[in-house]
Amino acid sequence: MTYRVTLIEGDGIGPEVTGATCRILEAAGAPVEWEKVPAGLGAFESLGHPMPEAVFASLRSNRVGLKGPLATPKGKGYRSANVQLRQGMQLYTGWRPVLSLPGVKSRYENVDVVVLRENTQGLYAGIEHEVTPGTVVSLKLSSREAGARIARWAFDYAKNAGRRKITVCHKKGVLPLTDGAFVDAFWQVGAEYPFIQQEEAALDDVCMRLAQDPSEFDVLLLENLYGDIISDICAGLVGGLGVVPGANVGDGCAVFEAVHGTAPDIAGMGVANPLAVLLSGCLMMEYMGERKVANRVRDAVSEVLEAGTHVTRDLGGTANTAEFTQAVIDAL
Ligand code: NAI
Repeated sequence: MTYRVTLIEGDGIGPEVTGATCRILEAAGAPVEWEKVPAGLGAFESLGHPMPEAVFASLRSNRVGLKGPLATPKGKGYRSANVQLRQGMQLYTGWRPVLSLPGVKSRYENVDVVVLRENTQGLYAGIEHEVTPGTVVSLKLSSREAGARIARWAFDYAKNAGRRKITVCHKKGVLPLTDGAFVDAFWQVGAEYPFIQQEEAALDDVCMRLAQDPSEFDVLLLENLYGDIISDICAGLVGGLGVVPGANVGDGCAVFEAVHGTAPDIAGMGVANPLAVLLSGCLMMEYMGERKVANRVRDAVSEVLEAGTHVTRDLGGTANTAEFTQAVIDAL
């Protein structure tokens, strides 16, 4: 069987890293046929919309997508295409497994933390307005339904993936209603999963504990903005943004993408690390039941990283994107 997968190449380094990923997955025998759709800055400039209806139509039909990063112009322009996609397809869980990789130097060894981010609400609801000239407000949205929905996803995930503990992170001391609702939903749903350890912790406390000893945590559950920030902190624990995969998952649809952005400072130079998108592709293979392909690629990646001769600049090496890609294909 061949799977049809929606492919969004993305902006900046997007085409470089998704191109490398497609090449490696194909070399590993992934039974995938790509359906390329335009999105992001390129689509905005050529079609007038950063997230055209064609993307939604393709995802509604294929149910699985691989996505490069999309640029969000600062200030005026358009509303984040990523947010539009997550809200439009109700991809309510941001799933970001953060794992130490062999051969990648970082402050800690054996980091294994999963960050789960609520993708549809919080300050990303984008409800901002000017109250009086010079004074603006941004509203933070938090519904019991959305809190319960992601809590259930988190507990089901923990159960199926054999994870031992979930920590829900909050600032309910200052935001008792919004963050309070998120935490209440967690405990309510958690009552049905007594075999999984459960704790709540203030976000600042979590930041400090992550810096001191990440092994204290197993699965972190956070609302939208906190999840965005903590994902990057966790990426820093294992070697940076170039190595952490992710996915945005809803009921019956998932889009796989790296944690990092379009890296405008290195876009077009051919030096980006495609590993994060590649590992997102491995998660995608697993999601589709192609565990063998995923593990073949991961083994090849480990071999290249351990050898250390073909790693990209962000990991202290000198290889460019094409050289790293070829090394992984050779290892396959
Ligand atoms: P960024 O993640 O693009 O870059 C931060 C730093 O990490 C840069 O120095 C960059 O060169 C480096 N970096 C990122 N990915 C890398 C890779 N694969 N290999 C080597 N180095 C890498 O974050 P920034 O600069 O804040 O955002 C740039 C644009 O990306 C913005 O328009 C932002 O909105 C967008 N963005 C999109 C995301 C998405 O589509 N999921 C996520 C984060 C940001």
